[in-house]
Amino acid sequence: MTNVQPAERVFSKNWDKPNSHTIDVFKSTGGYEALKKALAMEPADIIQIVIDAKLRGRGGAGFPAGRKWSFVPKDSEKPRYVAVNADESEPGTFKDRYIMERDPHQLIEGTAIACKAINAHTAYIYVRGEFGLAATRMQAALDEAYENGVLGKDVLGSGYPLDIYLHRGAGAYICGEETALLESLEGKKGQPRLKPPFPAVEGAFACPTVVNNVETLAAVGPILAKGADWWKSLSYTEAEGGTKLVGVSGHVACPGVFEVPGGLTLKQVIYDVAGGMRNPDRPLKAVIPGGASCPILLPHEIDVGYDFDAMKTVGSLMGTGCPTVIEEGTCIVRLLKRVERFYAHESCGQCTPCREGGDWLFKILTRIEAGQATDADVDRIESIASKIEGHTICAFGEALSWPARSYLKKFRDEFIEHVRLGRCPYGPIEVRSVAMSGVVA
Ligand SMILES: Cc1cc2nc3c(=O)[nH]c(=O)nc-3n(C[C@H](O)[C@H](O)[C@H](O)COP(=O)(O)O)c2cc1C
Repeated sequence: MTNVQPAERVFSKNWDKPNSHTIDVFKSTGGYEALKKALAMEPADIIQIVIDAKLRGRGGAGFPAGRKWSFVPKDSEKPRYVAVNADESEPGTFKDRYIMERDPHQLIEGTAIACKAINAHTAYIYVRGEFGLAATRMQAALDEAYENGVLGKDVLGSGYPLDIYLHRGAGAYICGEETALLESLEGKKGQPRLKPPFPAVEGAFACPTVVNNVETLAAVGPILAKGADWWKSLSYTEAEGGTKLVGVSGHVACPGVFEVPGGLTLKQVIYDVAGGMRNPDRPLKAVIPGGASCPILLPHEIDVGYDFDAMKTVGSLMGTGCPTVIEEGTCIVRLLKRVERFYAHESCGQCTPCREGGDWLFKILTRIEAGQATDADVDRIESIASKIEGHTICAFGEALSWPARSYLKKFRDEFIEHVRLGRCPYGPIEVRSVAMSGVVA
C-alpha cells in the first residue's frame, strides 16, 4: 500500500520470502556475517559504531542504544546479561511480533552482537505470554542457531561462549517495564524496581544487564555489516538513524506494519503509508501516536516529524512507533474509558496512586459515558490524573494519566455533552459487566 519506500528495507527485507523465519533464508541474505565480524572486534569498537549510527531504543523512550551499552561497568567481575524486551503489550503496538514471527534470526544476531559488546555470555528473550507463534518461531530459531554453531560453547568457531534462552511471560503488561521484566525473569512477582540503580549497573540477578527492545536489537546486525553512515543515510532526520517499523491501526484504509525511512511526518505515515482514512465520509478526528499511553493529537497537530524529538514539540511522543487513527463519529469518552479499563486492570498494585487512581478514573468514565455523571466528575479526571503522574515508581503512572489529561484537554466539550444530555451522544453504550470493579457499563 505504501507510497513511501525506504532506500533499503532492513527489518522486513526477508518477510515476503517463503520460510523467512528459517536460518537458511537468513543466511542467504548475509545473515550472521555481522556477528562473525563483531566476534573479531573489540567491545568498545562495536559500541562506538552503534553510537555513531544514532540508533535509538525502539521500546518507547528513544534512549541511544550504544550509550546504554557503554554504561555497563567495564571493571565489574560479575557476569553480565542482555535481556531482550519482547513483551510488546501496549495497546495499539504490534511491530516486534512481526520481527519474531518473520525473521527471528535477525533478533538473535543483534542480541549476540550486543552480548559481545558488553562481554555477556548469557541473554534472555522475554516474550509476551500471549505471543504463541512468535514464541514458537523464536524457540525454533534458537534451536537452529545452536545446531549451526551460532550459539553454544564456541560461537562460529571464535571460542566465544554464548547462550540465549527464551522466557515466556504470563500475560502482564507491566512486565514490559524493564525492571519488572527483570523481577519476573528472576521468578518473582513482576513489579518495577526503584531506579537507580539502573539495570546496566544492577539488573538481572543484581548483575549488569542491558535491556533492549526487539526492534532496537534487530537493527544491530545490519549496522555492524554496513556501517554507521549507511544506517544514518536511511533516515530523513539528523537526530536518529535508520528505517523504522510503524504499525498503523484504527480507521485507516490499510492498517498494518510498514518499514519507512526515519523522519517521515505522522501525516505521511497515516496518509501516504497507510492509505489515509478508510471512510471518506468520516474525516480524521484524532490520533494516538505511539501506543495507548501517548497523549492524543488533533488533526492539525500531525504534520510533524514522526520521531522521538519532533513529537515532543506537539506535546506527545512517538512511543513505540505505532499510531492508532480515529475517525469522526468515535466517542472519545468511550475510547478513554476503554484505555483506562486496560490500565486499571494492568496496574501491578505497588503504588497507591496508580492502583487506586486507575480504577477511580475507569469508574468515573463509566458514569460519564452512561450519562450519570456531573460536571464535578469531569473535573475529577484532571484532579486524579495529575496526582498519579510523577508519583509512582515506574512510568506506568504516566501511561495511565497522559491519556486522561490529554483527551480531557482536547475534547472537554464532549465530556460535558455527555453530562448535559444524560446519555452518550454517539449511541448506545457498551453493555458489559466489569467483574473487576463491580460496575456494569
Ligand atoms: C509500563 C511499561 C511498559 C513497557 N513495555 C515495554 C515493552 O513491551 N517493550 C519494550 O521494548 N519496552 C517497554 N517499555 C520500556 C522499557 O521499560 C525499556 O525502556 C525498553 O525496553 C528499553 O529498550 P530500548 O532502549 O531498546 O527502547 C515499557 C515501559 C513501561 C513503563
